[in-house]
Amino acid sequence: MSGHREIEGAAMTDLPNVGRARARANIALAKYWGKSDVSCNLPAVPSISLTLDPLLTETRVELLASLKRDELMLNGEPALGGELLRATDLLDRVRREAGSSLYARIDTQNHFPTASGLASSASGFCALAAAARKAAGLPFDARKTSALARRSSASAARSVFGGFAELPAGVPGDDALSAEPLAPESHWNVRIVVAVTAEGRKAVGSTDGMTHTKVTSPYYDAWVSASPALADHVRAGILERDLARVGPAMEQSTLAMHACALAADPGLLYFQPATLAAFATVRELRQTGRAQVYATMDAGPHVKALCLAEHVSTVSAALAATPGVLRTLIASPGAGVELL
Ligand code: DP6
Repeated sequence: MSGHREIEGAAMTDLPNVGRARARANIALAKYWGKSDVSCNLPAVPSISLTLDPLLTETRVELLASLKRDELMLNGEPALGGELLRATDLLDRVRREAGSSLYARIDTQNHFPTASGLASSASGFCALAAAARKAAGLPFDARKTSALARRSSASAARSVFGGFAELPAGVPGDDALSAEPLAPESHWNVRIVVAVTAEGRKAVGSTDGMTHTKVTSPYYDAWVSASPALADHVRAGILERDLARVGPAMEQSTLAMHACALAADPGLLYFQPATLAAFATVRELRQTGRAQVYATMDAGPHVKALCLAEHVSTVSAALAATPGVLRTLIASPGAGVELL
């Protein structure tokens, strides 16, 4: 039986020991980079995000007495190694809380536009956390789901909430830390235009990249101390729906994070020539008054431009015409995690 048919079959019924959930990716407007506690996976800085449509993951978890270990199907293919370990680790926490000893069959599907330039780990761990808790008979609790997802990947904690969400910096040992909702998806009609600048996986993933930065970058402490004030501007600007306040703080958060990573030893260089060209396009659109738009990027070469919905065609066309940009993708504010 294909994994996909299993997902569709379960939609018809509310089976015991089965949980299904849908979650969306998010983009950080104030960036998380660096941990205050590696063993609890707690962020060293506050981060603020926007949950995005149409970047979806759907996950089904079934706990079965017949299984000898957890099994993970990722987009119809069996997953082993690190991916399975991270899923098992999450399941172990759920089993402990629920008092269950049953292993899980996990079936997860990413419904991302092909090579969208956005990572699926946030939506993936958020959907897995919600589906696993449901399968184990635990009642839905947004903060517990967020804390569980955060333990696997901190950015996943924010995808529990629709629209704008904040994950505070963690005090070492506080394993209950969860994201908080800031404003729902209906709050502000903004768009993210993703300028995809390269194919394939990034060279150094976020988890390794931020650890390497913390250990070797002379700018790490400066990044950690500058971040709360940048998050304050991003938060206040979101609540006031003021792009002229959110945008500059968002750009500074991105560039400060990358400056800190560039100064690591050896330096982490996520930029491609097209990344800089796309940044230049965003600034030119702004300086010539054609669109109020600001840029951010994650641990990869793609540029994500934040603008009002009314400027989205201008921004998308200008980025698509930028040398080295392969394609653009438009995302809108999306809903939080849903049990299916
Ligand atoms: C640059 O959440 O992927 O996207 O907690 O180690 O899994 P782990 O890291 P992850 O880091 C995301 C980093 C970022 C910025 C952000 O999303 O805030």
